[in-house]
Amino acid sequence: MSETATITIDGNSYEYPVISGTEGEKAIDVRKLRADSGYITYDDGYGNTGSCLSDITFINGEVGILRHRGIPIEELAGQASFLGTAFLVIYGHLPSQEEYVHFSQQVAGNAAMPDDFRHHFNGFPSDAHPMAVLSAMLNAAGCCHSEMTSNDREQDMEHFDQAAALLISKVRTIAAMSYRMSQGLPFVAPRLDAPYVDDFLHMMFSTEEKDYEPTPEIAKAMDLFFLLHADHEQNCSTSTVRMVASGGANLFASVSAGVSALWGPLHGGANTAVVKMLQSIHDSGDDGSQFIEDAKTGKARLMGFGHRVYKNYDPRAKILGGAAEEILNSLGHDDPLLDIARHLEKAALEDEYFVKRKLYPNVDFYSGLILKAVGIPVEMFTVMFAIGRMPGWIANWREIATGSSRIHRPRQVYTGKVDQHFVPVEER
Ligand code: CMC
Repeated sequence: MSETATITIDGNSYEYPVISGTEGEKAIDVRKLRADSGYITYDDGYGNTGSCLSDITFINGEVGILRHRGIPIEELAGQASFLGTAFLVIYGHLPSQEEYVHFSQQVAGNAAMPDDFRHHFNGFPSDAHPMAVLSAMLNAAGCCHSEMTSNDREQDMEHFDQAAALLISKVRTIAAMSYRMSQGLPFVAPRLDAPYVDDFLHMMFSTEEKDYEPTPEIAKAMDLFFLLHADHEQNCSTSTVRMVASGGANLFASVSAGVSALWGPLHGGANTAVVKMLQSIHDSGDDGSQFIEDAKTGKARLMGFGHRVYKNYDPRAKILGGAAEEILNSLGHDDPLLDIARHLEKAALEDEYFVKRKLYPNVDFYSGLILKAVGIPVEMFTVMFAIGRMPGWIANWREIATGSSRIHRPRQVYTGKVDQHFVPVEER
């Protein structure tokens, strides 16, 4: 007999099916609750709400497990590339050699920005935040492809493969262009023969005199960074993408909204906040001990720590924490901020406040130090997260576009005034 759950309200009992995921996760299917009883569920921040069924990514936050399409993140980080992982996340299987070559070529072939599109960048002030530029320009890029942005699911899906490759490619071109714009530097045309990361760094850092060639260590570090950000199930930005997509909006509009949602310091903006925090601890002469005390009393927040889902080590932080040391050593980059980060981590993991609340380092704790060592400016850190997360947003958009999803429309509990009446202005 299939499992059910009974909810009793005011002496009346209602029975609902229990759904099981393939990893044994359980959910009570309350879709009929309001129709049956007049009640809704209340779940501020959605900590207990399953908003969808999804095949893409599995997280067990209690244990610290992350798998894409069933494959552990540790195996992907050790053996796959970012583009291979992107293909896996979007299409559901590891690419064959032929599929990989085809996908990489499609991505590389989409790197260039049409000439008539470049002048859009002139409309931004030079100190515009690159996340604002990225969000606006991704939507604008869709304007050049009306066949991919019809807001008709069937038609948009006919062009899905081209749109996916285009976005994975263009997000990196737009990021590099927004950086060049902020520095008052001319744009650099992509090198279509270069691997994904190399081409990105070329567009960021090449000069008229010299083509930028990353060392193998830098190329590997950036590829790992992007790979570890590829998807993370129903986080704030991905849920936003799904929300926008559920109304039927096209892929470009949906991922553009995802960029905006990612921007905040509690989400993707945390990687910027971590390095700023480490720098200010360093500048104050503290080794991190005072900061830990401040975090415990609510005077400060230990950025890069804590997670809604992980109540154990974020496996991505474990990988990046190890990689940070290796990468900084290989680049001969002796960063005192790494020592402060290590000290903060050790102190927090031994402190009752953090232990009791199960606060561990998350992906953003070490990622900023790696980006800094590579030479990425701090204000571009969250843009790097967006480049990495693009495959996850695309895969989640596709799930909505090809599924039977209804428009996302939560309810609320109204707590405002009641029984008010209109008062003419002269009587107010
Ligand atoms: N420093 C100090 N205290 C913390 C922290 C922190 N980083 N994170 C949570 N707490 C405390 C919080 O004050 C609360 O204490 P109490 O029970 O006494 O009120 C308790 O731990 C539970 O925290 P919460 O705010 O209810 O947890 P949440 O699930 O709503 O928030 C979070 C999760 C990630 C927003 C939060 O941990 C945080 O603000 N961390 C710092 C920002 C950060 O690193 N964000 C990146 C997340 S990973 C990348 C991504 O996917 O976005």
